[in-house]
Amino acid sequence: MLVSAKEMLDKAKAGHYAVGQFNINNLEWTKAILLTAQECNSPVILGVSEGAGKYMTGYKTIVGMVNGMIEELGITVPVALHLDHGSFDHCVKCIDAGFSSVMFDGSHFSIEENVEKTKEIVALAHAKGVSVEAEVGSIGGEEDGVVGAGECADPKECKAISDLGIDFLAAGIGNIHGKYPENWAGLSFETLDAIQQLTGDMPLVLHGGTGIPTEMIQKAISLGVAKINVNTECQLSFAAATREYIEAGKDQQGKGFDPRKLLAPGTEAIKATVKEKMEIFGSVGKA
Ligand code: 13P
Repeated sequence: MLVSAKEMLDKAKAGHYAVGQFNINNLEWTKAILLTAQECNSPVILGVSEGAGKYMTGYKTIVGMVNGMIEELGITVPVALHLDHGSFDHCVKCIDAGFSSVMFDGSHFSIEENVEKTKEIVALAHAKGVSVEAEVGSIGGEEDGVVGAGECADPKECKAISDLGIDFLAAGIGNIHGKYPENWAGLSFETLDAIQQLTGDMPLVLHGGTGIPTEMIQKAISLGVAKINVNTECQLSFAAATREYIEAGKDQQGKGFDPRKLLAPGTEAIKATVKEKMEIFGSVGKA
């Protein structure tokens, strides 16, 4: 059964570890992440971007697939199905379709508008037991064609959004989606510390988990980060393993690739990536 992400993240914040959000794109990714979470006895959050939602034909299809897998794979660890960087309308669609968690990304609005819209989403989501992530300070890099320049959130704005009854907060601290550039300045722990001082027990979310050195991840967790999002690293490991399989020419003597065999090495690579992250985040054994 899907659960809201609130309880697992409150526990993670109190226990000084982080739960991974791994983005899904299809059946293989979903299955790989669920099986790894079960093997690691770790709670897990399946992230769905609006683009991935469209690709998988829509939110109802995803809810059906994930619920079916949880039952048929015998998954007993806590699993949240979460809309990643949602617009207002898509948050409403996901709440209606049976997601257990949504992120309303109002970071590109004025703080006043972000507050108003976040409040509305909190009311709609909580009426159905769905958890809500809000964002302050845009996270840099490209996601679904939207390019944001990484910025550091204003701790006072974080406090204003955190007081709206949200369940966890994503705050920009110099993190970006995708690979970090050579001259990346690193995470601003000063900003993170100031945010945590003002927001207290609120679990904080670190986007752009790919390519952040382990020591920085651990320091971020010590300063209140309880959820870390990873997408690009799964894409890279999936692509590398698939490319290697194709280049090895295992195409059944010219009869074409068996689709299940073709996707198997990439799926195994995602499992290894997810396991490695769960170990670094400290969520293994915490289900
Ligand atoms: P990466 O693609 O950098 O891992 O970031 C994922 C993310 O933050 C999704 O919201």
